[in-house]
Parts: sequence; structure tokens; C-alpha cells
Amino acid sequence: MGATIIGTGKAVPAFKVTNHRLSQIVDTSDEWIVPRTGIHERPIATAETATDLASAAARRALGWEAGAGLAPTETIDAASIDLVVCMTLTGDAIIPSQAALVKARLGLPNAVAFDLNAACAGCVYGLATAQSMMAAAQAPGWAGNHVRRALVIGVERMSRILDWTDRATCVLFGDGAGAVVLEWRDGATGIASSFLKNTDDEALTLACGKNYDMSSFPFGDEMVLAGEGPDATAGPQADVSRDAIVHDDHARAVMGSPFISMTGQKVFKFATSAIVEAIGTALDRAGWELADIDAIVPHQANERIIRYAAKKLGVPEDLFQVSIGTAGNASAASALMALDDAWRSGKLHAGDKAIMVGFGGGLTSGAIAFEA
Ligand code: ACO
Repeated sequence: MGATIIGTGKAVPAFKVTNHRLSQIVDTSDEWIVPRTGIHERPIATAETATDLASAAARRALGWEAGAGLAPTETIDAASIDLVVCMTLTGDAIIPSQAALVKARLGLPNAVAFDLNAACAGCVYGLATAQSMMAAAQAPGWAGNHVRRALVIGVERMSRILDWTDRATCVLFGDGAGAVVLEWRDGATGIASSFLKNTDDEALTLACGKNYDMSSFPFGDEMVLAGEGPDATAGPQADVSRDAIVHDDHARAVMGSPFISMTGQKVFKFATSAIVEAIGTALDRAGWELADIDAIVPHQANERIIRYAAKKLGVPEDLFQVSIGTAGNASAASALMALDDAWRSGKLHAGDKAIMVGFGGGLTSGAIAFEA
């Protein structure tokens, strides 16, 4: 309680790829994509870096630039930002972190900055992490960093980890950034509760390897296969799920691939049950009822997932913010972009009770209940 969203912003690349344009690249069609996903077009970064997109979204959320869904009511001083958390799978660099790049670009002298990877549930993990750091500092005798204002940003250039010859994945994703400014306000409700969960992805239903350049690696002849080296006998017996992930040939192939792979129907099944569980648990923890909720802002993976979740929860579909039609799935950025849309379109108003819910690779899932 107390961590309040006081500003939101988003930024998307200028170049848009329609379904028709995609049908010239892979064997697909608007008729296949729209009914299964709700996606009509997706922004793809041809020129923009992740730092460009994240910084532009942050500047709007800070009220430094026009175009915020929710603009702060007062000018936010750069020196007052204590924390930058960037959720991303596709940042510009491994070192510095994406958050450090944004902090430097924006000139935030007092902020600590780090990245967080919780795949498409990053929105919820990032907000819950920032809120927890703020709340911890309220404890008497707290001897750590005092976080009073935080910038929480989701940014993705999913286009960089797509196999553009794989029609099963390349039609689903888009690029962009969403940002919020979170401020600790004594006595305010703000984020009322959070729920985070990880479920082992034994079958690697969602995966993407790392694109390491091994061309100078000199120990090729001495390499042992993962799980067969000395480490395999050290420590406790590997459990079944680890065994499945390490030894399965498909898994080995996936880990070596720099592209996203997905077993769509399994992800669909996971997502629809994870949404319902996460919303229900966040509501219980806040002491709220579903009937109290004015808007739900979900991760934008697929319009069908959202419709299915509405049906399972027994709520009207229009309780959900749906932005996927022109955004595609921008992973950790998508729900934060949708939050900005929800303010701009009038789905969210000051004082409303709302839920943000996410689910993704890992498998990660979670929700926050918050008062707007
Ligand atoms: N265009 C045309 N045909 C396609 C395409 C495409 N883009 N992609 C797959 N197909 C074909 C397949 O090859 C298959 O053909 P076949 O029957 O001849 O083998 C057929 O369509 C059916 O394929 P499925 O994968 O079974 O298609 P499905 O109806 O399940 O739809 C989809 C795929 C939309 C991905 C669905 O599984 C889904 O909604 N999954 C949820 C997962 C999701 O949205 N993930 C997003 C990213 S993950 C995340 O954010 C957490």
C-alpha cells in the first residue's frame, strides 16, 4: 500500500508491418491471423534502439514530453527518481543494463538502475519489485536505499529474436516500450496487493537461446555435454523437471537457437488458467471482489486469450483493455503500453480499482491490484 502510479507513457517504432505485408514474407494471411490473435499490424523497430523507445516512454510518464496517458500533476525533478527498473528480453546490451542506459540518457543522478527478466509477466514483476523496495524503506530502522520515486519500464525489440521464416511466431510479436512513474504516498492505496508465481516449463513451451559468438572459443574439443560433466554428480540429485530440460534433445536445440520458439496451444492453456488464478489471488490479497474492479489491463499476447479469460471469470470482455490489434505482443512492454492506452481511452479514471495481469515464458505469471 502507498506505491501509486502517477504517470504513464508509451513509445512505439514508426514502421508498421501489416498482416498483408507479412503474407508477402511467409505463408500466412490476414484471414488466418486476425481471428486467431486479434492482431492487424505490429510496430517494428527499424531505426529505434531499445534505449530510444524506453527513454521516450519514460519522458512521457515523467511529464517531460506531451503524449502521456496519465501525466503527473507536478513537474518531476530528475534528481527525485531513486530507482529505474527495466523489464526486457531484448535490451540493447548485456552490459550496461538497459536500465543503466536509460538512466544515463535521461540524466537521473540519484537513481539505482537494474534490469529484470520475467518474460511477458515482466510488467507485474517490475511493479511488484519497485513497490516492495518502497514499502521496505518504510520499516523503522531501515538501513537500505530509500526509494520514494521509481521509473518502471518495459521495453522490447522482439523483432530481433524472431525467426522471420517461422510463420507460427513471427506474426505474433511487436516492438515498443511502456513506462510508469511510481511514487510512495503515505496513506494512499496505490498498489494494494501483488501475486507472483513461477511454474517450471518442463517441456520448454516458450524458449529462446542466447546468441553468443563462440567463434573465438578455444576449448571445443574439451567440451562436455550439459548434464554429463563433473557438475552433474555434484549436489543433490537433479529433479525430474531439470532432467527434462537439460537432457531433452529438443531442449538442447532450443537453447542453441537465438530465436523464440513456442508451443502455441500449451501456452494458450497455461495462459488462460494463469490469468484466472493471478487475478483471483491478487483480489483476495487486496480484500477486493471482482465486482469492485473497473478495469483489467492484461499482457497482450492474444485477443482470444483475453476473451477466454473473461468468459472463465464471468465478466464482460470490455472490462479488459485490449490493445493488441495495432501493437502485437511486445512481451514485457505490452501491459504497460496497454495501461497507458487505458488512461488515454478513458477506460481508467482516477480512483478506479484495477488489475494488471501478466503471464509468459519461464513460466511466469502474476497480477497486481491497484487503485488508479
Ligand atoms: N499463418 C497461417 N497458418 C499458420 C500460421 C500462420 N501465421 N501459424 C501456424 N499456422 C498453421 C500451422 O502450421 C498449422 O498447420 P497444419 O494444421 O497444416 O499443421 C495450423 O496453422 C494450426 O496451427 P496451430 O499452432 O495449431 O494453430 P493454433 O490454432 O493453435 O493457433 C496460436 C496458433 C495463435 C499461436 C495459438 O496457439 C495461440 O493463441 N497460442 C497462445 C500463445 C500465444 O499467443 N503466445 C504469444 C506469445 S507467448 C506469451 O506472450 C506468453
